[in-house]
Amino acid sequence: MPGEASTGIQFVEPPIFERGSPGRSGASLPHFDVPEIDPAAALGSRARKVAAALPEVSEPEVVRHFVRLSQHNFSVDTQFYPLGSCTMKHNPKVNEWAARLPGFAGLHPAAPQDLAQGALALMYGLQQSIAEICGMDGVSLQPSAGAQGEITGLMMIRAWHRAQGRSPRTVLVPDTAHGTNPASCALNGLRVQPFASSGNGVIDPARLAEAVANVGDDLAAIMITNPNTLGLFETALPEITRMVHERGALVYGDGANLNALMGRARPGDAGFDVVQLNLHKTFSTPHGGGGPGCGPVAFKRILEPFQPRPVVRKVGDRFVADDDRPQSVGRVRAFYGNFGVMVRAYAYIRELGPDGLRQATDLAVLNANYVAALLRDTFPLAQERTCMHEAVFSDKRLEAETGIKTLDVAKRLIDYGFHPPTVYFPLVVKGALMVEPTETETRQTIDAFVAALQQIVREAHDNPEQVHSAPHLARIGRLDEARAARKPQLRWRPASS
Ligand SMILES: Cc1ncc(COP(=O)(O)O)c(C=O)c1O
Repeated sequence: MPGEASTGIQFVEPPIFERGSPGRSGASLPHFDVPEIDPAAALGSRARKVAAALPEVSEPEVVRHFVRLSQHNFSVDTQFYPLGSCTMKHNPKVNEWAARLPGFAGLHPAAPQDLAQGALALMYGLQQSIAEICGMDGVSLQPSAGAQGEITGLMMIRAWHRAQGRSPRTVLVPDTAHGTNPASCALNGLRVQPFASSGNGVIDPARLAEAVANVGDDLAAIMITNPNTLGLFETALPEITRMVHERGALVYGDGANLNALMGRARPGDAGFDVVQLNLHKTFSTPHGGGGPGCGPVAFKRILEPFQPRPVVRKVGDRFVADDDRPQSVGRVRAFYGNFGVMVRAYAYIRELGPDGLRQATDLAVLNANYVAALLRDTFPLAQERTCMHEAVFSDKRLEAETGIKTLDVAKRLIDYGFHPPTVYFPLVVKGALMVEPTETETRQTIDAFVAALQQIVREAHDNPEQVHSAPHLARIGRLDEARAARKPQLRWRPASS
């Protein structure tokens, strides 16, 4: 049980710029054995006028600073992190080892293809594996995030329409789509036409037919997140994809939640034309925290000419990165993308094989339904039905009975040592709590998490202020969330400026 420590800032690590002292150093560099040059003479107007304000710190100061910061961090390696839609699962450490092998980690991205055959072979193998997992004909590994995969897939759809002398601009996006979907449309200069899903949380073909008819010839695509942000599998996919194809439009799938599908269902078989995956969610690279990502797009043959270039292909027994692609949408990333993420994904897929991937999916879905079964009497489910990899609850009953809201529950969970679930998303659910336990958590961990939530609900009835003023045990108390979002302090400035 967490104690009742006072709220507010308990200890904040100052930035490294506020440590050290002029002249202090953690490194001893050899003396120059070449003549010193005058930077102004060598660089002209590009030379610095004032020395960079770099921290001058000793090695122990640096080590302690960063080790302390790492200990302040909440991480999957220390605690349960059921952040819905983010798949904060444990990633096998052996894949980190694989990505750090000197032949992979030390390879220069501009190395001649003859010297990079192993890396190209790995990329080719990963493309083949993803194509098979998704039921698609081709894969580009270049995009470096899920959202960038969305943008790339939509660029390919636009290029496909253009190649036929058309330029429709409207994309139908259901209200259960991930938030990046409409943003990716807008960045592509496409018009987003939202439409409401049915009362049971999935796309209703009759409502879609109406929306399709209203858009008419301007329909470029539909963009479907599956499983959707309510954690539900879209049940009418064959009908939906047929309807859209009959209008001459294409079907985009947000496949970032593939840990609910792999080995069980393939987007290509359901009629999707292009789908992006988040290797940094499903395939063994940690998600969140701003690290590198990889959002490959998998596509049907009709979109093959438009994929980003270069395209990694096998020619005889050699692997080539083919840049001669006249219809390509172009590069979307420097060099080949985030190669280290590809190594982890390839190692993960090869270790698990088809049976292991299927088992991961089964466990992700089983764990989410276990959470739903244990909590449905405590928090009403957004939809009373079998979910996929995540379960979405509402605070409506708790708020009506106690005045305690989702945000209060989330903050109080921190006191119990759990990362809060995703809150207030999806927007279609009142006070949403979106829990994604992932396939890597044990029953004991999930039971402890559920017990904490049940205890918080008891506290909400018996001592609401205790919940309302949480967190009590975190390093930093409750922030002004609106100010933090609207006026974030992202830059350090010296105290004097
Ligand atoms: C369903 C879904 N789509 C798209 C994205 C965006 O991916 P990224 O954050 O890599 O851009 C996410 C992120 O978690 C997601 O969950």
